[in-house]
Amino acid sequence: MSSNYPLSLMQTEEWKQLAEHQNTLRDVRISALFKNDLARGKTYTLALDEISFDYSRNKINERTIALLTALARRTGLEEMRAHLFNGAIMNFTERRPVLHMALRGSCPAHLDIEGRNVRERVDATLEQIRVFTEFFDNEQRFSEIVHIGIGGSDIGPKLAYSALRHLTKPGLRVHFLTNVDPDHFHDTLAGLNPARTLFIIASKSFSTQETMTNAHSAREWLVRGGVGADIIDAHFCAVTANAGEARQFGIAPENIFDLPDWVGGRFSLWSAVGLPVALALGFDHFKSLLHGAYTADQHFLHTPLEQNIPVMMGMLGVWYRNFWHYNAYCILPYAERLSLMPQYIQQLDMESNGKTMDAHAARVPYKTAPIVFGASGTGAQHTFFQLLHQGSEIVPCDFIATRQPVHPLGDHHEKLVANVLGQTKALMDGDHNADEPHKNFDGNRPSNILWLQKLCPQTLGMLLALYEHKIFVQGAVWNINSFDQYGVELGKTLAGKALEKIQGVR
Ligand code: F6P
Repeated sequence: MSSNYPLSLMQTEEWKQLAEHQNTLRDVRISALFKNDLARGKTYTLALDEISFDYSRNKINERTIALLTALARRTGLEEMRAHLFNGAIMNFTERRPVLHMALRGSCPAHLDIEGRNVRERVDATLEQIRVFTEFFDNEQRFSEIVHIGIGGSDIGPKLAYSALRHLTKPGLRVHFLTNVDPDHFHDTLAGLNPARTLFIIASKSFSTQETMTNAHSAREWLVRGGVGADIIDAHFCAVTANAGEARQFGIAPENIFDLPDWVGGRFSLWSAVGLPVALALGFDHFKSLLHGAYTADQHFLHTPLEQNIPVMMGMLGVWYRNFWHYNAYCILPYAERLSLMPQYIQQLDMESNGKTMDAHAARVPYKTAPIVFGASGTGAQHTFFQLLHQGSEIVPCDFIATRQPVHPLGDHHEKLVANVLGQTKALMDGDHNADEPHKNFDGNRPSNILWLQKLCPQTLGMLLALYEHKIFVQGAVWNINSFDQYGVELGKTLAGKALEKIQGVR
């Protein structure tokens, strides 16, 4: 399923009007827009439960929003959104529906895919996770969980665990083994007791080179560590769409968790790929994470485009990428526990929309995904912020901040928040220094602030799902398939050939 433009995107009236409109805003300062409209901060803030999205510091006015939403409508975004949630074939190159939202309850009750009811399939896996979590707690056999996976089978649970670590059950630690680098294997397992270690192998394909190499080495590590052949099965779980391969590896059928084909790797945190989160934090917290994402789904699905947070996030991205020609985009979590957010959004955005072929296999004549980077504040202020403030590239930024800390300490959190406000103001206002030109700041650099009341499973789930939908919005407008990733294949194939050569000369 792809949009069906009557004309190519750039020839639509809406696109042309946006280009003309951009001309009228070229010399307008965001700070002047604030001076002329005292309610601007309120007008350009959208709220969803415990999250609010402040997009007032952008080069936009009422007409920009009207034109951006008109473009979104023209490209069929509303219809595509409905198709997405109804299980249509949105991943049109791989001929698959895209239903990660079903993992958090957002799909029609009657939807059947390949002869199986989607809800029943999701509920069965959730029940398996619940039962396994209970068994894990009662048995008290393991104190270390090593999650083996890469890309989407790694970053999601790693981010969620790191963001919510304050909820970890006492005496339990989770480790993430991802790179095939032997030093990483060594460092991750150093000091762990094999008898107390559970491995989760998360791989949709169960054939990814890095993951399978680490999985086989993990088995050898257990054997070397004295775990007998009779009990080694109990030390492994698998999360996969390829149960046959998992069984071949020697994983007991009851320890294999289903990962449906209609869940893409980068959208799989909500599936059993989130098992380490459920084990470490408890099943109820995992359910709250899913519920947060469900809340974001329902908001995206039912809210008019003008008040729709992911739609605004996505269309602002289109505005800057295609009409201001900005090349990069920066994610700045002001919460150390969200320091993996930039990496997570990098995969979500660049693997989904880093493409140039449209739905008709024609090269698109406009720019698609920007270069996404970022790091946690305040640390990043002391590294690459120089470029954000005075560099030749203008980089729209998303600041992500919490209103309350998890662990209050003196005035630490006030200082953190003051930095968010100070930096966004500096980007917007700039500074003029006639005597010392190198101290000039042009300002007029756009940013958003996403405020979370507090970091908890519910707000984290909402936040991540809002970004997922933002990416969908952009892919829909650009008429590309956000759900395949052929661009990663060539390098893998050539690495395979290089390996044959290296091993051939050994
Ligand atoms: O190489 C890219 C990729 O296919 C990602 O899309 C995916 O998240 C990752 O590899 C891991 O794949 P798998 O879960 O099949 O091991």
